[in-house]
Amino acid sequence: MKTLILAAVVGLAAASFQFSANAADPKRAMDEAKEHGCLKCHDVDKKKVGPSYKDISAKMKGKKPEEGVTAMKAKPVHKSVIQKASDSSLKEIMTWVLSL
Ligand code: HEC
Repeated sequence: MKTLILAAVVGLAAASFQFSANAADPKRAMDEAKEHGCLKCHDVDKKKVGPSYKDISAKMKGKKPEEGVTAMKAKPVHKSVIQKASDSSLKEIMTWVLSL
């Protein structure tokens, strides 16, 4: 009986982790950011060519990922990266950035 309850608790924890992972899977988003070259100019907590993602997150507090995508697209410095990255990967990256 005890193991059954334990199994149920573990299952529930895994399910809720899965749920939050869908909202912004940090590892997948980071891989996407790497793949699209974002991390050449941005670091999570240090300023590089561009501001750190934590600073960006603080600046855009309360904004939706879509608004973050629009804001980054508006910067001329991103001209070449946005040609290659799809809107869905940009949205995934921004969901992660805004969660920092
Ligand atoms: C060539 C370097 C470079 C690359 C590559 C790059 N960025 Fe940036 N990014 C910058 C710089 C520089 C700024 C600051 C621009 C400014 O404030 O005028 C910036 C600002 C931003 C901002 C804040 C926009 C705002 O309105 O303040 C976001 C969000 C962002 N970048 C996301 C991304 C994402 C996502 C990627 C990858 C798809 C990416 N960047 C790739 C250089 C880069």
